[in-house]
Amino acid sequence: MSKRSVDKKPRTAFFCRNCGYDSPKWLGKCPGCGEWNAFVEEEWGEAAGGAGAPGRMSLSFSETPQPIADIAADEGERLRTGMAEMDRVLGGGIVPGSAILVGGDPGIGKSTLLLQLLQNLAVRGMKVLYITGEESARQIKLRGKRVGAEAVNLLVLVEIDLDSMLRQIEATRPQAVVVDSIQTVCSAALGSAPGSVGQVRESSERLIIQAKKTGIPVFLVGHVTKDGAIAGPKVLEHMVDTVLYFEGDGGHAYRIVRGIKNRFGATNEIGVFEMRGDGLREVANPSAFFLAERPQQAAGSVVVPSLEGTRPILIEIQSLVIATNFGMPRRTVIGVDANRVSLLAAVLDKVCGLHLSNHDIFINVAGGVKVSEPAIDLGIVSSLASSFLDRVVAPGTVVCGEVGLAGEIRGISRADIRAREAARLGFTRCLLPYTARTEREGAAATTLMPSLGRDGVPMDQREDIDLIAIRTLGELLQSLF
Ligand code: TYD
Ligand code: MG
Repeated sequence: MSKRSVDKKPRTAFFCRNCGYDSPKWLGKCPGCGEWNAFVEEEWGEAAGGAGAPGRMSLSFSETPQPIADIAADEGERLRTGMAEMDRVLGGGIVPGSAILVGGDPGIGKSTLLLQLLQNLAVRGMKVLYITGEESARQIKLRGKRVGAEAVNLLVLVEIDLDSMLRQIEATRPQAVVVDSIQTVCSAALGSAPGSVGQVRESSERLIIQAKKTGIPVFLVGHVTKDGAIAGPKVLEHMVDTVLYFEGDGGHAYRIVRGIKNRFGATNEIGVFEMRGDGLREVANPSAFFLAERPQQAAGSVVVPSLEGTRPILIEIQSLVIATNFGMPRRTVIGVDANRVSLLAAVLDKVCGLHLSNHDIFINVAGGVKVSEPAIDLGIVSSLASSFLDRVVAPGTVVCGEVGLAGEIRGISRADIRAREAARLGFTRCLLPYTARTEREGAAATTLMPSLGRDGVPMDQREDIDLIAIRTLGELLQSLF
C-alpha cells in the first residue's frame, strides 16, 4: 500500500471480471474463481487509495482499541420490509447501515422487486430513495404505475455519477436506498468505464462506507453476466453484508430470492414470489404452488419435502426411464445434480438389480426448481424405480433421505418439520430414514415447533401422517408402492 502511494504514475493491473482477483500479469485461468479468459487490464485504483485486492476496505471508526465488553452491540431496530418472504431471507428485516447485494440475470425482476420493497417502506411513512442509472425517470414511473408503487415518499433519482449520488443521499437522508445497478455507477476519480472491475469495486466501497457511517441501508443491484462484458456481482460478494440472488427462469412465473451470504442471519433461506402482470406477488404457500399441476397416478412422479433454509417445501421429482436405442444410455437431468443421479442409478442397479445401465434416464424437478440437498436422494431413487418398474407410488406418499453407496438410507436434518409440511398438504405417509425417526421420537416435539410457528406456517397439531422408517433401498421398494 505505502509503496503504491509513493508511485505517482497511473498503474495498471489485470483483474478478473468475474471475481475481482488481481494479478500483475495476464492469466488465462483465474486462480480465484476458476473462470477462463476473464482477465482485463485496468488502472489500479490509485485515487481510492488502491482499490486493490478484495477485502481492503477501510472502516476505521474507532481510533484506539477498546474492550469488546464496552462496545455497544445494539443491532438497531430492523426495518421490516412488509414482505414476509423478503424479511425471512434478510434474517428478520433490514439491518440499519447494512449493504445488501441483489444479484440476478437481466430481466428477472430485480428492479421490480426493489421498487415494490421501497414502496412498502414508503407507505409506512418512511422516506426512501431509488437511484437508477439504467432507466429514465419516466420508465420508473411507468413501472411504478404498473405495480402500484407511487407513494409520495418514494423518491427517484436518475444518476450515474458516484459523487453526486453520495451527496444526494447525504442531503435527502432517506431511510433506505436502492442503487440500480452498481454496474452503471461511475466514479470520476477513476479513468475506467462504468462496469469495469475498478469502478464497480470503488463505487460499492464508497456506498458501503456511507451506509455504515449514516446507518442508511443500501441495496446494490448487480447483473450477473455470463459473457463477462461487465464485472459480475462476485466482485462484491465479500464486501457487502448480505448477498441475495434473485432467480427463476423466464418460462415460469415463480421467482426465488435466495440468501447466499448474510452477516445478520441464516443463509440458504429463500423467499418465493410470483411474477404477474402487476408486479411480484409473494407466494405464502410454495408447496401448494409447486405441486399445483402434479399428475395423479403417474409412474415416475414422487414428492419430496425438501428443506430450503428453515422452511420445508414440497417439490415433485419426475423421471422417465426407457430402454436405450443406441449403445450409449442418455442421462438428461434438470433441477438436480446430474452426477448424483448417475451415482444413484448405479446404486439401484447394483443393490436392487434394476438394470438402469441400459436405459435412458430423464429427470426433471417440476416447476423448474433447483434443489441440491442430500435428502432428495430418496426422491430421485424412488422416482427412477417407479418409472423403471412402471408402478405408481402409493397415493399420499412423500419420501426423504440420503442414500449411501451400499444402498443404506442415511439420516437427514429436521425430519420433523418436513413431515409436518407434508401432513399439512394432505399427505398421509412419509418414508424417512430410520435414524430420523428415532431422533424425532427422542426430541421433544415442542423444541422443533417454535420454528414452524415463527415462519407462520399453520401447524397441523394432529400430525396424522404415518412415519415409515426405512433402512435400505430394499425396504424402500417394499413400502413405496
Ligand atoms: P425488471 O424488474 O425490469 O428486471 P431486472 O431489473 O432484473 O432486469 O423486470 C423485467 C421483467 O419482468 C420484464 O420481462 C417484464 C416482467 N414484468 C412483469 O411480468 N410484470 C410486471 O409487473 C413488471 C413490472 C415486470
Ligand atoms: Mg433492472
